[in-house]
Amino acid sequence: MAVVYQTMTAEIHRASRPSARSPRGDVVLAAPSVADGVAIRCLVDASKPLDANSTYAYLLLCRHFADTCVHAKRDGRTVGFASAYRPPLSRDVVFVWQVAVAQELRGQGLGKAMLRELLSRQSLRGCCYLETTVAPSNEPSRRMFRSLARELDAPVEEGVLFEEADFGGDRHEREALIRIGPFAARQPKGEPLHES
Ligand SMILES: CC(C)(COP(=O)(O)OP(=O)(O)OC[C@H]1O[C@@H](n2cnc3c(N)ncnc32)[C@H](O)[C@@H]1OP(=O)(O)O)[C@@H](O)C(=O)NCCC(=O)NCCS
Repeated sequence: MAVVYQTMTAEIHRASRPSARSPRGDVVLAAPSVADGVAIRCLVDASKPLDANSTYAYLLLCRHFADTCVHAKRDGRTVGFASAYRPPLSRDVVFVWQVAVAQELRGQGLGKAMLRELLSRQSLRGCCYLETTVAPSNEPSRRMFRSLARELDAPVEEGVLFEEADFGGDRHEREALIRIGPFAARQPKGEPLHES
């Protein structure tokens, strides 16, 4: 089964297998596999202001957390990635760690489509809150999460997860906590367009 999401310039397909192919030019969403780890690290590295983690960290995400990560490919190339996990002590929460979209596809709905795909996963059954952090200067990220909250008809609370001082000597902005929810366990409104 494939679910097709439409952006301005491309269709976005959800695939149940990482190796799934799509018509040329369309974007395929799937869980990542270990073979995607290096390309994902390169995408994050090119997606400032994100902090790129080690290749090993992305390999672990692809190996152990694939069910809660989303990988987007177009013509065989990595064009998007969202990492997330269920915090062990808060089983009704999904924590979204990093979201990155290739420069040429930004502003076309791919970031939000990956979050919708994430929330539709069986692995997130029982989750009714999404948490993430956003640096105060990252307006595109804040807008993406606020827009998702509107689609979900869910309230948004803001707090602080990590203060500047928590980063020690690193020059790092405070990380504001955004908590969306509660939301019903369902497909957010408006998407997908159709299933085939
Ligand atoms: C943040 C990021 C993932 C957004 O991805 P995207 O595919 O461009 O976002 P979308 O097209 O799905 O947009 C989602 C919403 O956010 C808004 N938005 C996204 N980027 C925006 C920008 N630069 N300026 C204003 N609004 C923006 C869109 O208008 C849309 O709102 P709508 O649904 O009300 O129309 C992308 O800009 C990126 O990779 N940035 C670099 C890495 C980063 O900062 N990641 C976020 C931290 S986890």
